[in-house]
Amino acid sequence: MDIKLAVLPGDGIGPEITEQAMKVIKAVCRKFGHNLAYNYALTGASAIDAVGDPYPPETHALCMESDAVLFGAIGDPRFDNNPKAPVRPEQGLLRMRKQLGLYANIRPVETFPSLLHKSPLRRDLVEGADFVCIRELTGGIYFGEKGRKDNGNTAFDTCTYTRPEIERILKLAYEFAGKRNKRLTVVDKANVLESSRLWREVAQEMAPSYPDIETDYMFVDNAAMQIIQWPRKFDVLVTENMFGDILTDEASVITGSLGLLPSASIGIHTSVFEPIHGSYPQAAGKDIANPIATILSAAMLFEYALNLTEEGNIIRKAVAASLEEGVVTVDIAGEKSFRTSEVGDWIAAWISA
Ligand code: IPM
Ligand code: MG
Repeated sequence: MDIKLAVLPGDGIGPEITEQAMKVIKAVCRKFGHNLAYNYALTGASAIDAVGDPYPPETHALCMESDAVLFGAIGDPRFDNNPKAPVRPEQGLLRMRKQLGLYANIRPVETFPSLLHKSPLRRDLVEGADFVCIRELTGGIYFGEKGRKDNGNTAFDTCTYTRPEIERILKLAYEFAGKRNKRLTVVDKANVLESSRLWREVAQEMAPSYPDIETDYMFVDNAAMQIIQWPRKFDVLVTENMFGDILTDEASVITGSLGLLPSASIGIHTSVFEPIHGSYPQAAGKDIANPIATILSAAMLFEYALNLTEEGNIIRKAVAASLEEGVVTVDIAGEKSFRTSEVGDWIAAWISA
């Protein structure tokens, strides 16, 4: 198959980790006889530095004409403590999501037995937890009307959702639940927010069309608590943009394996695959960051964007082997740790063998 990828390394450790994922993608393509073409493009703070725009039109054009996008990370401390910065790296990410129509962010939360001791939760609570968070990604308070009034002394952000936006994300969530353990948790704040009441109304209308799936409804504060207390009870969780932002960070850390969790953003145009962790600027250029979340994002890329399941599986197997053999970076290593580039080389070589 002909495969055309856009590679957006971004900031901080982004370039190092995408490089490892590219080694793995190349090894898979060689093994399965795919014809791979790929192009790099700018995004985030590095794009602001180079051309003054965190998601330049050339980057968007490349994403649009590619089969999938591999994304590293964006963010730079130079901008974090400057609320007055005229352009911010994050704006690039948000524009990419909006312009590519990526309305669903899918984050599997999985535990790895060898890493359970890293979890902030007791082993007996977290062992075996396995669920998927589906976050709405192009609506809500992130994209609603915002501004200042009263000479800048009053600020507002609006959370707006339309029925079609809610229907399409819930449909996708039901389809996921149908392929998994058939339980869907719809998370909202319907006791307070009008937009949440529309979510719940639409969900209640749709639920009877999925009779084999058990739907339950949970307020977001309660969900935040239950993810910590009973992480095993969840199968598929779906929620609006900002609740999803917060809950997915919470969910990712309970497994003890933040550096291992991938994500997919899918929707209308080209899908984007990226690790769930950030740009980790303190580690940039040191060859110490964990590349596995990005490598597992490449596995999702083969499966979701290209429908190549075997290719995705072999990446997962190679990653499992590296964990078993202890070929891992310092964040999860025991006595001996490996460099970012060594882990990438090892996993690519395992696939080629
Ligand atoms: C995420 C990030 C982004 C978000 C930031 C970087 C804009 O936190 O992908 O979860 O809030 O969506
Ligand atoms: Mg976030």
